[in-house]
Amino acid sequence: MKIITVIGARPQFIKAAAVSRVLRQANSGVQEMIVHTGQHYDPNMSDVFFTELDIPTPHANLGVGGGTHGQNTGRMLEALEAEMLKVRPDWVLVYGDTDSTLAGALAAAKLHIPVAHVESGLRSYNRRMPEEINRVLTDHVSELLFTPTETATDNLGAEGLTGSKVIQVGDVMYDAVLHYRQSAKAPRDVNLPPRFALSTLHRAENTDDPYRLAQIIEGLRAISASLPVVLPLHPRTRKLLQAGSFDLTGIHIIDPVGYLEMIWLLDRCELVVTDSGGLQKEAYFFKKPCLTTRDETEWVELVQHGVNILVGANSEHIASAFEGQAWQSGDFTKPLYGHGDSSEKILAALKQA
Ligand code: UD1
Ligand code: UDP
Repeated sequence: MKIITVIGARPQFIKAAAVSRVLRQANSGVQEMIVHTGQHYDPNMSDVFFTELDIPTPHANLGVGGGTHGQNTGRMLEALEAEMLKVRPDWVLVYGDTDSTLAGALAAAKLHIPVAHVESGLRSYNRRMPEEINRVLTDHVSELLFTPTETATDNLGAEGLTGSKVIQVGDVMYDAVLHYRQSAKAPRDVNLPPRFALSTLHRAENTDDPYRLAQIIEGLRAISASLPVVLPLHPRTRKLLQAGSFDLTGIHIIDPVGYLEMIWLLDRCELVVTDSGGLQKEAYFFKKPCLTTRDETEWVELVQHGVNILVGANSEHIASAFEGQAWQSGDFTKPLYGHGDSSEKILAALKQA
């Protein structure tokens, strides 16, 4: 069975690393070709993951990145179609909800190549998020929908996506953590405080709105008065912070780190403050409470279990949630994201389909 895996953004490299490892196992019967759209292109946003996580060298890199959503998606669509026509795969595998996900799914569906969507069924019900558009459309053109949680399975059911094509496999990011955590390593050349909160900040709805961005920065500064905040900064946020006049005093800003460094930081931090989807779950895997700087989350089960507090982009909410310490009493005991065998389940389903 020939599979084209379409990836292009940081979280997709991590998810694909876990699944690709299983697809490459002897007797899998799978020949996987990775196509990198080029959506993320800085060495610390792309190459580092291929090297550290032993992801096979992409069969092609389309070099599409840095544009608007329309430019990125359109250029990817055209270039992906050409790759798919050359390779004629039996399946196209896509991950998550980025512009690369949608372009891969659409290119394949229009060529009548079946699409398998990993991390299917997530919904924020906020159509202003580019990711929401990407994930809804991808789900509706996919032949196999691999959901991470019961909520995701139910979300699909509410849109009429039911039956044997929906398979709840758990979360491949849990597979990744279990596999790579023994290789975690300290970030090089950075002076870290002994105790710290780990933060990331890149979501368009926060970074592209100067008021929300300023509020989150102020919230992080308030936390850093008692617990230093370490912030590996996404390049889009760095550019915006450099262009504005933000007071960043007390926040330890570092360059984006590789995944092995990130899980080292997750293991040692006391708290996570983020607008990242992936990091909210990783906080749970490492039993670390999370303040989420968004108005809603797709990972609702974390909020229900008291381990994740939605603080929005409001400096007072961020500071008062931190000071209120409700985040210290959540329940981390439930296997909310499966048992770390999602990749095996995906392979089994692809072989059976
Ligand atoms: C994308 C995803 C988002 C995901 C995030 C993961 C979409 C719509 N969004 O957002 O869901 O959470 O990736 O990190 O696909 N840039 C660089 N170097 C890079 C990559 C990006 O400088 O290697 C800068 C460029 O100015 C670029 C901007 O960041 O225009 C935004 O990049 P883009 O990939 O469009 O969106 P992300 O914010 O990374
Ligand atoms: N991550 C990383 N280095 C960083 C920041 C994040 O390796 O400097 C990892 C993080 O641990 C998680 C994934 O990237 O596995 C999350 O990606 P991101 O936050 O960029 O996207 P999202 O999950 O929000 O789509």
